[in-house]
Amino acid sequence: MSKTIAWRSPSNIALIKYWGKYGRQLPKNASISLTLENAFSETHLQYEQKNAQSAAGLSFDFLFEGKENPNFSARIEKFMSSILDEMPFLKDYHFQIQSHNSFPHSAGIASSASGLSALALCLTQLATEIGYGDFTKENFKEKASYFSRLASGSACRSIYGGAAIWGETPHYEKASNLYAVPYGESLHPIFHTYHNDILFVSKAEKKVSSTAGHQLMEGNPFAEARYAQAQDNLGKLLTHLKNGDIHEAGFIIEEEALTLHALMMSSRPSFVLMQPNTLLLIHKLRAWREETKLPLYFTLDAGPNLHLLYPSEIKTQAQAFIQSELLPYCENGQYLADKVGQGAFAL
Ligand code: DP6
Repeated sequence: MSKTIAWRSPSNIALIKYWGKYGRQLPKNASISLTLENAFSETHLQYEQKNAQSAAGLSFDFLFEGKENPNFSARIEKFMSSILDEMPFLKDYHFQIQSHNSFPHSAGIASSASGLSALALCLTQLATEIGYGDFTKENFKEKASYFSRLASGSACRSIYGGAAIWGETPHYEKASNLYAVPYGESLHPIFHTYHNDILFVSKAEKKVSSTAGHQLMEGNPFAEARYAQAQDNLGKLLTHLKNGDIHEAGFIIEEEALTLHALMMSSRPSFVLMQPNTLLLIHKLRAWREETKLPLYFTLDAGPNLHLLYPSEIKTQAQAFIQSELLPYCENGQYLADKVGQGAFAL
């Protein structure tokens, strides 16, 4: 008889970027992200114990948005194989995995973060339910974040509501390279009201995967300076996030986004993931900010789309500006209105 476990897990948007890794998915610098609400993945894991005649090894079928997806299947296979040392019982089951997203995959919206954390949550729940090893209800989130990290680094931050930090740093004692820790309770209340509207400059597939991008940092001449900058920026940003200094936080957030793209541009081979309209929107946004003095800032993922960040107290003005001045430069005028969310939950 088969049983099902299902989780919804959100995407997250990094304010201090993770870019560069080593060893078994360990980050070169600590990062912090806001957890989103409307951009999420839902994953259903149906599992059935194999019988004695079944083939040994991992066995699963995967459907994404109801269809087979060889690329995603290969990534899942790689992930599940990589954790067999810590979850050997996975070989005892046949799995049917179904996943769908609330947003278009690739194009720089972290679909790997939401999709793979949702799967890691399902597998961690299975381990907990069967009472495997040291899996308990008490360490559930930490374990789920740990396995999410092994699937995709940024995924480990999606578990918690509000905000999460991943990576050792002198600025936050509880932080670890192995899993993310929640930071929501330390955020000034204004950041809990933050909107994150994703403006789709282009919904085309990304030209470089994040995984390939991280590898490019190995030969990048600016790598060491970047890791030092990230450390310094995180320390400053944590102070601003605690105190509610929205402008100071905004400057650091924009610097991080542009640094990420500068690193990609200065890698060998180099990648320019911004589109002409990405830059146009940045100029328009900065001009509007200069004129109004309102705290509307942007960040970018490894893609051309602009993530706009603002507190709900300027919602009316920000949204009027976005509608009239920015959406005409988006692909088919499309955007996804998102905001800081509550983190993953079981369905
Ligand atoms: C630019 O987590 O997608 O979004 O660990 O190889 O799966 P892998 O990479 P991934 O990298 C995300 C990079 C980023 C910045 C961030 O989210 O911190």
